[in-house]
Amino acid sequence: MSYDLNFDGRVAIVTGAGAGLGRTYALDLAKRGAKVVVNDLGGARDGSGDGSASPADNVVEEIKAAGGEAVANYDNVASQAGGENITKSAVDAFGKIDILINNAGILRDKSFLKMELETWKAVLDVHLNAAYFVTRPAFRVMRENSYGRIVMTSSAAGIYGNFGQTNYAAAKMGVIGLMNVVRLEGAKYNIKINTLAPMAASRLTEDVMPPDMFDRLKPEFVTPIVVYLCSDKCQVTGNIYNAGIGAFNRVHMLTGPTVLVGEGIEPPTAEAVMAEFDKINSLKDAKEVSTATDVMGEAITLATGK
Ligand code: NAI
Repeated sequence: MSYDLNFDGRVAIVTGAGAGLGRTYALDLAKRGAKVVVNDLGGARDGSGDGSASPADNVVEEIKAAGGEAVANYDNVASQAGGENITKSAVDAFGKIDILINNAGILRDKSFLKMELETWKAVLDVHLNAAYFVTRPAFRVMRENSYGRIVMTSSAAGIYGNFGQTNYAAAKMGVIGLMNVVRLEGAKYNIKINTLAPMAASRLTEDVMPPDMFDRLKPEFVTPIVVYLCSDKCQVTGNIYNAGIGAFNRVHMLTGPTVLVGEGIEPPTAEAVMAEFDKINSLKDAKEVSTATDVMGEAITLATGK
């Protein structure tokens, strides 16, 4: 079957592809011709346990049975050696990396005061540190080939907040910060990086969704936007999308109009800031700002006229 979004000759890494959302990304990319590294550690929902080869192996078997190409990788995304080895698996098996989907994830929910350091760190390791461990070696290979498509996985829990998930929310916003910079550093090498905030039925959400919704929120509803963001047709970079049950939208952090309090010569008093606070607080006429330099530049221009 031929597709407009065709991945013949492309090599993709999907982390956490042994189940849930990642499995659907791997299957769809392979169906469209991509050679896929199916990474999965095969641990428990909270990341505990010794891991298992079966989740990754099963997905590789599924891909092969459908006539596609794939290899399994069982490395832990939460270690530097694991990240390096995932890249090595792709290069050894298929010679390059065109696509990386950072998808592997665990949950260890606790209210903030009960959030012990170990619980905090375990979740930051799998979501945020892994984004560094896996993306960096893959980015090196992509840069050499002047081509790359990267998808990070965030969450509404981080973007908007969700009770009991300080660790997860912090990590899931952290990957957006990483994206914001990789976007700039990858631009001249045709490396596009975007972030997805999915909503889907999986092991991670089975106890938080009502059963009737769980049945409807198939991961396959999320897959199409990920496939598009991984394609050579995708020209956007640095964007964030919510996706679930076939509904999609873009998320952006807006910046309100800049308010100069005083003349920009002497620091204003706290009282002067309080007097202007309604204006400072307003998002009326807020806009998208592209880089840190842009927002700093606007403040400096307003204060100095330069
Ligand atoms: P899932 O639990 O079905 O799949 C995650 C996979 O990642 C599992 O197969 C697991 O073995 C693997 N994994 C976990 N730790 C790993 C590690 N250290 N190294 C390698 N593989 C590892 O979960 P789901 O729902 O498919 O989640 C995928 C991603 O989407 C996660 O990053 C999750 O945080 C995110 N997400 C999911 C939402 C949803 O509604 N399902 C909502 C928001 C975000």
